[in-house]
Amino acid sequence: MAGPFDLTGRTALVTGGSSGIGQAIADGLAAAGADIVLLSDVPSMDESIEMVEKRGRRAEAIVLDLARTSEIEPAVAPLLARTQLDILVNAAGIIRRQPAAEFSAENWQSVLDVNLTAAFTLSKLLGGPMLARGHGKIINIASMLSFQGGALVTSYAASKHGLVGLTKALANEWAARGVQVNAIAPGYITTRTTDPLRADPARDAEILSRIPAGRWGTPQDVSGAAVFLASPAADYVTGHVLAVDGGWLSR
Ligand SMILES: NC(=O)c1ccc[n+]([C@@H]2O[C@H](COP(=O)([O-])OP(=O)(O)OC[C@H]3O[C@@H](n4cnc5c(N)ncnc54)[C@H](OP(=O)(O)O)[C@@H]3O)[C@@H](O)[C@H]2O)c1
Repeated sequence: MAGPFDLTGRTALVTGGSSGIGQAIADGLAAAGADIVLLSDVPSMDESIEMVEKRGRRAEAIVLDLARTSEIEPAVAPLLARTQLDILVNAAGIIRRQPAAEFSAENWQSVLDVNLTAAFTLSKLLGGPMLARGHGKIINIASMLSFQGGALVTSYAASKHGLVGLTKALANEWAARGVQVNAIAPGYITTRTTDPLRADPARDAEILSRIPAGRWGTPQDVSGAAVFLASPAADYVTGHVLAVDGGWLSR
């Protein structure tokens, strides 16, 4: 009999699957038995496809710039017509650093479009068939900046606070129809996005001093939480924000 964390026979769409946290989640879901559709805006996702295939699962990639909201439905509709998508992971995300008083409209809008509007647009597109089937899982990758304001990252903090609001709103409407919507809030994780922070010794030391676990997290530290939230083991978990932060929020 399949275990509570078994995803055999399920297919997941993972945005941001080309690198970092999204890639680690794709690998974790594949290890639990799911087939994977990766979505990012880089021409090649060979590395991630290889990781999934090494797990003995099927992988394919969609190349799409999620900042182009109007192009999302036309790009995803053919996939939806031929594949049952049981799990959606909204991990794609960008960050722009600039003092708020000088924050450009471009740096505001592009971050909101990729981090929040794309997550809503995909949740609606994949949520419809999930509701019709009476089951589905949506996992949004939030942040510590879903709870805090941070510094120089106005649009990022606004997008990640918004993502939690989106998670709870969809969870409320869809819980009774078998679709669970949750978020994961990673702490400080070693990926491309945080390279600039680790490159600054003072900032790196300041962040480390504030992490009870005493180390930066890895993308692999986050993938386990995604497997749990994507699995039958979390069928009564919805509208929740699961922090994977080495204790950051408890300090
Ligand atoms: N690292 C951390 O400490 C941390 C903490 C909390 C939350 N997060 C969140 O975790 C998620 C993944 O970030 P990461 O740290 O793993 O960084 P990352 O390696 O830079 O991953 C970002 C992913 O988003 C994709 N992406 C960016 N812009 C896109 C666009 N316009 N259209 C489609 N895909 C796009 C990237 O694809 P390309 O390869 O095409 O650029 C990449 O796959 C983000 O939502 C981030 O906000 C990260």
